Amino acid sequence: MQSSYSIRPARLPADASRITDIVGAVWKGGGDALVEAQYGQIGNAPWQHYQSKAVLDWIQSPTAQAYVVVDTEREGEIVAFCSFQIDRDRDTATVGYNAVFPTHQGRGIGGLMMNYVMDRIRESGVGYAGVIVADNDEHIPARRVYEKAGFQTVYGLRYMFQKLS
Ligand SMILES: CC(C)(COP(=O)(O)OP(=O)(O)OC[C@H]1O[C@@H](n2cnc3c(N)ncnc32)[C@H](O)[C@@H]1OP(=O)(O)O)[C@@H](O)C(=O)NCCC(=O)NCCS
Repeated sequence: MQSSYSIRPARLPADASRITDIVGAVWKGGGDALVEAQYGQIGNAPWQHYQSKAVLDWIQSPTAQAYVVVDTEREGEIVAFCSFQIDRDRDTATVGYNAVFPTHQGRGIGGLMMNYVMDRIRESGVGYAGVIVADNDEHIPARRVYEKAGFQTVYGLRYMFQKLS
């Protein structure tokens, strides 16, 4: 990671607003955005609201650990976040939501965040780690980062949807 970046634990609710901004900027290829693109707005708010809520709920779960990457030359502005959860009973960690603000993508932050997360997971002592990622083009960088971190595909997933009545 460039020297102007550092990583620290996420502080919630203080960091929630910036994490919400990042989610809205990056997840145009995510499930909520793609459903909205096909069916129009669903519910009382645009997809960014529901996607951000899903991310914040996930990273605030009691078993989750979340971190943010800050730009130390821009007053500690948050430029990325990452997360994981540990399931001791299952002896497995799950890498969770992670994203890099668009203007900072392609600089290695995603890969270095993943290395940081994998170090924390290994320190935890669990024997296995998994991650779920979409197979569309928008997630090519994510799959690349996960493959470089050692993950191998077990199976693909398909999200299906319909309008009722
Ligand atoms: C996934 C994400 C966090 C990666 O962050 P990043 O800082 O850009 O990642 P890095 O720069 O470390 O690495 C990206 C890799 O993808 C590769 N890549 C990017 N676009 C690519 C493309 N169109 N085709 C092939 N490879 C591509 C880069 O070359 C790089 O690989 P390399 O290290 O071998 O060169 C970022 O793209 C993002 O926020 N995506 C949207 C949210 C998301 O998908 N999150 C993960 C799923 S929950």
